[in-house]
Amino acid sequence: MPTSATKRELQAVLEIDGRASLQGEVKISGAKNSALVLMAGAILGSGDCRLHNVPNLVDITRMGQILTALGLKVRQHGDTVDIDTRNINPTKAPYDIVSQLRASFFVIGPLLTRLGTARVPLPGGCAIGARPVDLHVRGLQAMGANVRIESGIVHANLTGGKRRLQGANIYLDYPSVGATETILMAATLAEGETKIENAAQEPEIVDLANFCCQMGAKIKGAGTNTIIISGVDRLKAIEYNVIPDRIEAGTFLVAGAITKSEITLSSVIPSHLAPVIAKLNEIGCKVEVANDNNGSYLSQSLKPQRLRLIPGELRGIDIETLPYPGFPTDMQAQFTALLSIAEGNSVISETVFENRLNHVAELQRMGANIRVKGNHALVSGVPFLSGAPVMATDLRASAALVIAGLAANGKTVVGGLHHLDRGYENLEGKLQQLGAKLRRVLPD
Ligand code: EPZ
Repeated sequence: MPTSATKRELQAVLEIDGRASLQGEVKISGAKNSALVLMAGAILGSGDCRLHNVPNLVDITRMGQILTALGLKVRQHGDTVDIDTRNINPTKAPYDIVSQLRASFFVIGPLLTRLGTARVPLPGGCAIGARPVDLHVRGLQAMGANVRIESGIVHANLTGGKRRLQGANIYLDYPSVGATETILMAATLAEGETKIENAAQEPEIVDLANFCCQMGAKIKGAGTNTIIISGVDRLKAIEYNVIPDRIEAGTFLVAGAITKSEITLSSVIPSHLAPVIAKLNEIGCKVEVANDNNGSYLSQSLKPQRLRLIPGELRGIDIETLPYPGFPTDMQAQFTALLSIAEGNSVISETVFENRLNHVAELQRMGANIRVKGNHALVSGVPFLSGAPVMATDLRASAALVIAGLAANGKTVVGGLHHLDRGYENLEGKLQQLGAKLRRVLPD
């Protein structure tokens, strides 16, 4: 079970032999960004919650530690997480873990709406941006919570003798995934109806809404920009399967595209990858539903399928990251690596986070021809990248550097693997299974 890395593990590197040719099939794990919020959502119901298809990641272990510090009993075994939510102490979310896992802030809504009080450290910023939580806080205040921030701790409670949050109409200035999730969870046990307008529409929001509805919540409109929640008195603990990870799936599709390899992914929901598949087609690849006998490349079905990536000659395109159903910011670094060896020019615009182009400098070390102007990466494709020692700066940047190393001439050595281990379950094992030659090396 991954835990926080020891000093020696922090210095581990991935040595990647370039010009990889991949083949075969890889199983996609459960979605990190759904599992994390569902673990927080488990607080809403009292009893034994069981989550299946949970990826084995440092972030999941950290979320388990947060819940344990709050008095819950958490057990991870294989891809299952059991959470006994009968006993909770709402004031004990530990700063040292919250500061390493922003998603732990998600506990504030469930704690406040179930217990009337919450005390959660303010999550810090990270490499990709300041990551404020003002939209979360304003949403809770609109529902009647008294929220104050003292010495980096967010104290939230109900005032005026109120025993429950009150339903409210909330317009989000930005369709924030986290703020939508915080307000949605808080509203499930509030008095009356809550409407969230300009809500985030990501698949992870739909997964959370489905999870809460199975617990007994009344939620309509998840997956659209307007969500309506009618508060109920209590929710029950349930067993639930987490959706597949669309970003891990997208990362493997790009690994196939950049190494000109035909590979198959199992356990993927194609409609969750629509923007990624559209851009891979535009670049010159094809993506097909492998077990769909009429070969339609994009099934509307929501059940997990097998996807096949057919590589092609890569040509430059423009990409702008946007809230779902726009192109996902979590796939931007991987596509920047891919487009660095495409024919022609590409403009990649990062509009979601203010500082998510840190991987460009590392790709330049590998011979990529990229200029950064503001939040745009101007890419001129080069015939090939050259292996080099590079350093990961954040989760998706680390995946982009591994992918670049697979295609480069020569050996690439990627450091900063603690970023990678937060969000990818056994990435090197899955790539080795597809035929890549890479190994994790610990310092002597
Ligand atoms: C979630 O982060 C994901 N993390 C991120 O994935 C993902 O990149 C992001 O959504 C966008 O899709 C989890 O789900 C655990 P946001 P979140 O609130 O909720 C601003 C990964 O690599 N904002 O939609 O933090 C914010 O600064 C991670 O797996 C406010 O201004 O994203 C950002 O510019 C990285 N005030 C923009 O909104 C707020 O109160 C989008 O943030 C909240 C957000």
